[in-house]
Parts: sequence; structure tokens; C-alpha cells
Amino acid sequence: MAEKFKIIGGETLRGEVSIGGAKNAVLKHLAATILVKGKTKIYNVPRLTDVDIMLNVLSDLGAKYIYDKEEKSVEVDATNITSITAKYELVSKMRASFIILGALMSRCKEAIVALPGGCAIGERRVDFHIKGLEALGAKIKIENGYVHAKASKLIGTDIYLDIPSVGATENLMLAAVLAEGSTRIQNAAQEPEIIDLANFLNTIGADIIGAGSSEIIINGVKAENLHSAEYTTIPDRIEAGTFMAAVVATKGKAVIRNVFPAHLTFFNDKLIKMGANIKLIEPTTIEVSCRSRLNSINFVTQPYPGFPTDLQAIAMTLLTTANGVGIITESLYENRFMQVPDLRRMGADIHQDRNHAIVKGVKNLTGATVAASDLRAGAALVIAGLIANGETTVEKLHHIDRGYEEFEQKLQKMGGRIYRYDETENQIKGVFNESRL
Ligand code: EPU
Repeated sequence: MAEKFKIIGGETLRGEVSIGGAKNAVLKHLAATILVKGKTKIYNVPRLTDVDIMLNVLSDLGAKYIYDKEEKSVEVDATNITSITAKYELVSKMRASFIILGALMSRCKEAIVALPGGCAIGERRVDFHIKGLEALGAKIKIENGYVHAKASKLIGTDIYLDIPSVGATENLMLAAVLAEGSTRIQNAAQEPEIIDLANFLNTIGADIIGAGSSEIIINGVKAENLHSAEYTTIPDRIEAGTFMAAVVATKGKAVIRNVFPAHLTFFNDKLIKMGANIKLIEPTTIEVSCRSRLNSINFVTQPYPGFPTDLQAIAMTLLTTANGVGIITESLYENRFMQVPDLRRMGADIHQDRNHAIVKGVKNLTGATVAASDLRAGAALVIAGLIANGETTVEKLHHIDRGYEEFEQKLQKMGGRIYRYDETENQIKGVFNESRL
């Protein structure tokens, strides 16, 4: 299906929006459900294609699930795990499915998981995952594009990560839950999603302390200590940041509900420096507004609590029409400026030199046909379309659908003129109240 967004720029976003559950937390909770020989129910599950892929991975392993899209919950019954293989067809569609490696090692002490390979934004190696599992006692062979890990038992140990990798921290936490003795992960990632995974695992009976700091200790428990439970996933901080940026970019004013402001401290601070107003209304509700042209800022993407790489492209869109020059340094990925050529086609003035981008604010962007190259670059182009003069078409929406639930509906409710368009069927999908399209 060749679905595209048509966006007519120039509308100010107003009203309110509610943020869904965190994609990058819920995917890991789903993988972790296989540790329990029974049922686990997760709430606040966003309706995303990435969630569907993870459910397919679980189903391939023999787990059963009920996905209630109205209730936004998933109940997984992992009483019977009949396979230890995560196929390339699924892992290549979503590299986050590699997290099943740690979960399978915990549950079955053996796993055959396809290596994810690189992706559009960078090489994205998994060497820390592998070395960490070896340190826990797994024997690992890499054959025919698959990691085959096996251990008679896993034994807790100290693991130092060269960089605080989110996925490696999570995979090793999962693997260590049922290991003998204690595992200490040093230089661990500190993202809110790591805390949420530790909280989820503790809810099902694991014993993890220190998540959210650079040192996490996982005290191994016995399989019989793990039990069924219910858990509610945290709100998606990147979705929240995306909507905050969209409101600010259009000089709008909106209430954003179901957000944990503490998860966005660094980003909020940068938005305020650019001229946005952010008001805390309730503990999980903020009001965001902006009246005048934004000021340029410089920023460097860093692991949490630094500026999130997942909001880099979106912040770049803000800089394209800001007053002055802003310098962005992308320090996590080698190739995460994929949005630059498309933003340039919309009139942005961006000079890129390796992992630095110098963005000189222009007065206006102009509508063009552009294509999402990854999830966040796609969202950045949508926001660019909302502020551009004229009409923008954003292609390759499958990237956006991986991580934004009802993206266009949420923007429409706030006054954005954005429509999903299926070229092959030649029709506008969903709510349609534009006479000119
Ligand atoms: N790295 C290695 N070796 C490893 C692991 C990581 O060299 O063994 C490198 C990667 O190549 C990358 C850097 O370390 O350059 C950071 O990677 P990390 O492992 O922290 O990222 P991830 O777990 O693969 C998660 C999110 C990403 C987000 C990053 C950083 C999920 C499913 N994905 O990826 O989210 O950008 O952390 O915060 O949790 C997104 O949602 O759009 C997205 C890409």
C-alpha cells in the first residue's frame, strides 16, 4: 500500500493531545513476559506495527496472546514455550526483537536469534549484548546470520559496558534475572525505559536494584519465584516531545496529557531556551505554547539524561525556521541526519559535516514531496509540512506507523491539516473535512 500524508501547512495547533504508552518500554515488557510460566497483562500498550511484530515473535515461540486494542492491553500466556528461534523475517523487520535473546536465555538457557544487521541510521552493533552473555557463562556461536547462545546455567558476574547501550543493558538484565548469584551491570543505560523494564521484572518477582543509575544489580531468583502480574507501561517521552515540538513549531498552544515531564527535562530546557513556554498543570499534564519566532540553539545528542537522539531530527525541524544559526552534534548514530536532504528540498539551509549539522534559520519552508527514511526523520518531516507554505506530501509512512499511534488523527484534532492518502486506491483515509483535496 502506497500510503502518504498530504499536509497543508500554516495552521496553528491548539487544543489537547494524550500521549500513549512508550513503544521502547512496551516492546521489552512483551519480550520479558516469556519469563513467566503463566499469564502477564500489560496496559497502556500503543497500537503500533512494532508491537504487532513483537507479538508475532512471541507467538512463534509458542506463547499465546490477547491484544485488546480498545483497552490498549496485551495479555500474554507463556505457559508453553515450544521454540527458541527468532527468525530473520521478524528480527530484520524490527531490530528491537533482538531483546528476545536475553529473555530466551533466562527461560530456556538456549536461544537462536537472527542478527539484526545495520539499519538506515547506523551500523547498530550488538557486540556488547554478546560479550555480556558470554560473561554470564553462555557459549555463543554466530552461524548463518544467527546468534546461537547456550548455557547449562548462567552465573552472575560484573559486566562493564563500553558505552551505556539501552538494548545491551536490557538484554543482560533479562538474562540475569534467573542467573545464579548477582550480576552487576556497570556503565548501564539510565533511560526511563530501563527503569520501567526493571519495575516490570520486579513486579513479576525479579530482584533488581539501581535501575536508572549507572550501576544495576540483578540478584538472581529461582524460576518458581516468578509469577503472573499486571503492569502499566510509562508514557512515551519521545511521542510527548514530538507533539511539544509540533505545537511550538506552529506557534500554537496545547495541553499535553499523560506525560512524565521529568523524563523530558533536557529537551524541555532546550525548548524554553528557544522561546517556548511550558507550564506544569498537573503532575502528568503540561501546557506548551509559543508566540514568536524561535531562537536557535546548539545541542549534542547524548544518552539519557542528555538530549535524546530520538528527538534530534524533530528539533532540527524547529531550527530550520528559527532566528540565527544552530549547531547539532549527533553523537549516538553515524547516519542519523537522513532528514537533511528532504528538509533542504523544503527550503532549509543546512550544512552537514559528518556528525555535525549547521542549521541557519530561514523565514519559511515551502511544501514539497518528501519521504520518511526512519521513524523520527518521518515525524520531523511531518512537522516541517505543518509549518511550510503550501502542500507537502510525506511518503513511506510505514516508518511513522512503527512508532506513532494515530499520528494524523491526533494532529487533526489539534487543527493540523494532515490526511492519509492511499495513492493506489486514490482516496483519502480517515477523517476528511477538506474541500480542496
Ligand atoms: N552499540 C554498539 N554495540 C552494542 C550496542 C550498541 O556499538 O552492542 C552502539 C549502537 O551502534 C549505537 C549506540 O551504541 O550507536 C546506542 O545504541 P543503544 O544500544 O543504546 O540503542 P538501541 O537499544 O539499539 C534504543 C532505542 C532507540 C534509541 C536508542 C538510544 C529501542 C527499541 N530503541 O536503541 O530508539 O535511539 O536506544 O536512545 O529501545 C527509536 O525509537 O526511533 C529508536 C531508534
